[in-house]
Amino acid sequence: MTEIRRVRVPLADRSYEVLVGRGAAAELGTLLPGSARRAAVVTQETVPLHIAASIPHEVFHIGADEQHKTLETVGELCRGFARMGLTRNDVVIGVGGGLVTDVAGFAAASYHRGVPVVHVATTLLGMVDAAIGGKTGVNLPEGKNLVGAFWQPSGVVCDLDALDTLPDREMRCGYGEMAKYHFLTGDDLLALDMTSRIARCVEIKAEVVASDEREGGRRALLNYGHTLAHALETATEHRLAHGEAVAIGLIFAAHLANVLGRVGVERVDEHFAVVGEEYGLATDLPAGIEVARLLELMRRDKKALDGLTFVLDGPDGVEVVAGVDDQPVLDALARMA
Ligand SMILES: NC(=O)c1ccc[n+]([C@@H]2O[C@H](COP(=O)([O-])OP(=O)(O)OC[C@H]3O[C@@H](n4cnc5c(N)ncnc54)[C@H](O)[C@@H]3O)[C@@H](O)[C@H]2O)c1
Repeated sequence: MTEIRRVRVPLADRSYEVLVGRGAAAELGTLLPGSARRAAVVTQETVPLHIAASIPHEVFHIGADEQHKTLETVGELCRGFARMGLTRNDVVIGVGGGLVTDVAGFAAASYHRGVPVVHVATTLLGMVDAAIGGKTGVNLPEGKNLVGAFWQPSGVVCDLDALDTLPDREMRCGYGEMAKYHFLTGDDLLALDMTSRIARCVEIKAEVVASDEREGGRRALLNYGHTLAHALETATEHRLAHGEAVAIGLIFAAHLANVLGRVGVERVDEHFAVVGEEYGLATDLPAGIEVARLLELMRRDKKALDGLTFVLDGPDGVEVVAGVDDQPVLDALARMA
C-alpha cells in the first residue's frame, strides 16, 4: 500500500481529516466517531467499492442517477435508519460519488436532527469536490440542489483504488473540476502525482471552505469556470455533463479575463495546457449553440447580483468580477466558436 496522505479541514469544533491514497478505505475505522456502535452504509449497486466497516452495519442502496436525488429517497433512508434503531451516537457512511454523499449527508443532517456522517468518495469529482466542505442536499422538480443543509462530515476517505473502475466519462467530469484548482493558487499541480494532486485539491478546497463555510463570499471562487458551464449545461439540455461544461467554462473565463486586460495571452495558453493537453478535455463551444441564449442564461446565474458576474483571473489572482458588459463576453465567446 502506498502512503496515505491526511489533510485536515480546519473548522474549529467541526474540523475533520481527509485520507487520500490507494487503499485508504482500509483506514475508515480511524474516522468513525468513538461513540458509534452501528453504521448505516448508504451506497449504490453500481458502486463497486465495498468497505469493511469495523462496527455492525446495515447497507442501504439508493438509485444510481440524478432522478433519485430526491426528498423521497431521503425519506426512505430515514425510515430505514429508524427501523434499524440508528441513534444520534451512531454514524451514517456514504460510499459513492457526489450523488450518494449529497443524499447520505442530507439524510444524516436531518435524521434525529443530525447524526455524524463519514464519506467514502469513489469518484474523482467526489474526492476533489462533493465530499469535502459540508454541502448536502437533493433536487426538486423545480431545480437542482434546492433543498439541503450544511452538514460537515466527521471524516472523508478518498481511496484512489476506486478510480480504477470509474467510467471514462466520469473521470473526465472529475478532471474538469480538478483543472479549476490549477488556477486558484500559484502552485504547479502538474508537477504532482495523482495522490498528491488530489490531496492538494482537497487542501485548497479545505482552505477556501474554512474561510467561508456558508458561502458568504470567498467560497464563490470554487465556481471558477462555472458561469458559462451552468449556461452550457442548460443550453445543451445536459448533453454536456457538468465537468465537461466546466472545462469549456475555464477556457472561456481565461479568454474573458484576457479581453478585459486582466491577464496576458500566456495565461490563456496555460489554461489550454491544463484543460486540453493535461486532461484531454474538449475546449471549444459545442456546435449549434446560440450565443444570445448563453448570454441570457448567464444573466440569470446565482452570482449575478450586479449585471453579468464572473469569477475571473487577474493580477491579484482569481476573484469575483461584477458588472461585466455584454461586448467583452461576446468577444470571448467569439474566440471559442
Ligand atoms: N456537495 C457538493 O459540494 C457538490 C459539489 C459538486 C457536485 N455535487 C453533486 O455531485 C453529483 C455528481 O457526483 P459525481 O460526478 O460523483 O457522480 P455520481 O455520484 O452521480 O456517480 C456517477 C456514476 O458513477 C458510478 N460510480 C461511482 N463510483 C464508481 C466507481 N468507483 N466505479 C464505477 N462506477 C462508480 C455511480 O454509481 C454513478 O452511476 C451531483 O448530484 C452534484 O450536484 C455536489
